[in-house]
Amino acid sequence: MSSDFWIAPSVLAADLARLGEEVQAVVDAGADLVHFDVMDNHYVPNLTFGPSVCNSLIQYGIKLPIDVHLMVSPVDDLIRAFADAGAQYISFHPEASDHVHRSIKLIQDLGCRPGLVLNPATPVQCLDWVIDELDMILLMSVNPGFGGQSFIPATLPKISAVRDRINKSGKTIRLEVDGGISAENIADIATAGADTFVAGSAIFGVEDYSDVINHMRLALKKCG
Ligand code: DX5
Ligand code: ZN
Repeated sequence: MSSDFWIAPSVLAADLARLGEEVQAVVDAGADLVHFDVMDNHYVPNLTFGPSVCNSLIQYGIKLPIDVHLMVSPVDDLIRAFADAGAQYISFHPEASDHVHRSIKLIQDLGCRPGLVLNPATPVQCLDWVIDELDMILLMSVNPGFGGQSFIPATLPKISAVRDRINKSGKTIRLEVDGGISAENIADIATAGADTFVAGSAIFGVEDYSDVINHMRLALKKCG
């Protein structure tokens, strides 16, 4: 368990007509990372935004690292485009790349931090042989494609299994969880071993972003 907890609001749930202001508002409310969900209507049945929108946020003045979650197939061209756009973390699903190790190396070569994303049914064994190359492991606690879904409880033992692997690797790797996270369940997710928490609807769905982020931090304090 880590006391270095990061909260990553997912811009998917923001008012997209006012994206710059919305992201600045969560930055001001104490976010640590900006989670940017890229969907292609091919790997997942939904379509969101691309590298030009990511770059627009940076041009707007967003200083926090952008944590790009690619739900696209194939991945390599968009890895290049998001690296150019200024992303810091770039994560992808192993099922979406024909050459997982090559895609990870590509992210590194472009000066970004690679992450691998595991769907609810993806076995943790897919981390074998590549874990030492990763800066982030992102566990999906819902099926990818939509915000506002319920947290899948089987994710909790999976988080612990991945935490064990990270500890055994001896590397500094963020363990991020994505989907259905709120101030009510964040402590259980942290206790299981996560240190980075994506939240879309729980943050952007309320009036006061500081209030909900503070509630999350308070819950996390009890397990720090
Ligand atoms: C789902 C996305 C998530 C989503 C989380 O495919 O990867 O990042 O936006 O949304 P909430 O927090 O509403 O479950
Ligand atoms: Zn995501």
